[in-house]
Amino acid sequence: MKRYFIKTFGCQMNVADSEEMAGVLQARGYLPAPRPEEADVIVVNTCTIRRKAEEKGYSELGRYCGLKRRRGGVVVVAAGCAAGKDGRRLLSRLPQVDLVVGPSRVRRLGELLDGHTPGGELHLDLDPAHYPGAGEVPVRAGRVTAYVSIVRGCDNFCSYCVVPHVRGREVSRPPGEVEEEVRRLAGEGYGEITLLGQNVNSYGRGLDPPVTFPQLLERLDRNTGIRRLRFTTSHPRDFGPDLAAAVADLPSVCEWVHLPLQSGSDRVLAAMNRGYTRTYYLDLVEDLRRRVPGIAVSTDLIVGHPGEEEEDFRQTVETMRRLHFSGVFAFKFSPREGTAAAALPDSVPAGEKERRLAEVLALQREITLEQHRRMVGGLVEVLVEGPGKAGEGELTGRTRGNTVVHFRGDPTLTGRTVSLRVTRACAHSLGAEIPSG
Ligand code: SAH
Ligand code: SF4
Ligand code: F3S
Repeated sequence: MKRYFIKTFGCQMNVADSEEMAGVLQARGYLPAPRPEEADVIVVNTCTIRRKAEEKGYSELGRYCGLKRRRGGVVVVAAGCAAGKDGRRLLSRLPQVDLVVGPSRVRRLGELLDGHTPGGELHLDLDPAHYPGAGEVPVRAGRVTAYVSIVRGCDNFCSYCVVPHVRGREVSRPPGEVEEEVRRLAGEGYGEITLLGQNVNSYGRGLDPPVTFPQLLERLDRNTGIRRLRFTTSHPRDFGPDLAAAVADLPSVCEWVHLPLQSGSDRVLAAMNRGYTRTYYLDLVEDLRRRVPGIAVSTDLIVGHPGEEEEDFRQTVETMRRLHFSGVFAFKFSPREGTAAAALPDSVPAGEKERRLAEVLALQREITLEQHRRMVGGLVEVLVEGPGKAGEGELTGRTRGNTVVHFRGDPTLTGRTVSLRVTRACAHSLGAEIPSG
């Protein structure tokens, strides 16, 4: 019996891809190995969104190549975005790698392994045959929450972003397939599904008959019996009133949106090719908050994009102060080969990027902590995901607003939705207890 081990870097899309690879391999009789040392096939699912993310994948691959040199007989697979981008260059850097599989080919991993000859094969086409076949059910890590990818690729070409270059054009998964999968997961006891795409708002373009993302949500809400639905990522430009109405009206759709702002400066937003202005974004969030009271809005920010001056950065900080995001993922601009921004001078010095990053992170920490403090004493609805990392009787789950909550309770509560009293505010989570009486 052959065993596989998959190590994943990058975003939720890569996590979902790894779950699909695991499904494809298990459909062929492979079993999971607890450690790479015990695996016959080792897959590293790589990311290339920023240089650092890419380096992590390469160093992991290097480690497994070392393992192969010592043990022999192991097949090392470099999969995902960095692998797809580098292709042959990856093989010259790490000649022990057997297969290089781009992100659009990961579901072919089974066939590719069957047919491969030792010594470095490239599978880089951006083909649209991208969803699992019959019997190739993704093997998911969690039993309570699950990712379901609904749009692959991206057509947006934001100045800084490598994703459209490595994942190719946008392709939506037919709504019937999505519905069937969500219904099956709900039947298996999953309580929450996160629908994935680089830009879920453009879901359905190019499908025949055409369907919109709000229509998909409505269908899933009505027909699948799933308790909670989330989706990520939303592009502000494509977030229309029909989607806001769906979030407001559909009971299963959680009161949370991840809406990457990237920058609060119109000048920088234009340079980023984001297709909206600061005022547009402010109005959008205001409209959402009016329609969906208490909705949590989280965001992504980039500091130090080429041409970002101090006054542009101040606009970003000012927008944060004004909107009070529930969470911020902030990144220092990292030039990526082949993107429009990489052709511009990387004008913001490293130390200055570092300073700007530290400022937004510190500010957001304050904002989140303050929001969490205001919740102490109140009740929150939590979907229990299972034992927490602190061990000993601690459980963890999330609110509909996507805040992590830790509390003490019986592990049999896993999968249930419980009402908890908030007792403690931390920067990244809440502490709570089961209300007495
Ligand atoms: N599709 C999503 C996000 C994709 S990547 C969206 O459109 O928002 C996740 C985040 O990484 C981005 O939102 C952006 O903030 C950041 N990012 C992408 N490319 C980057 C780069 N070259 N340097 C720094 N951060 C980057
Ligand atoms: Fe990248 Fe922009 Fe596409 Fe998001 S929308 S994946 S940031 S190009
Ligand atoms: Fe995701 Fe990284 Fe690819 S963020 S889409 S795994 S480049």
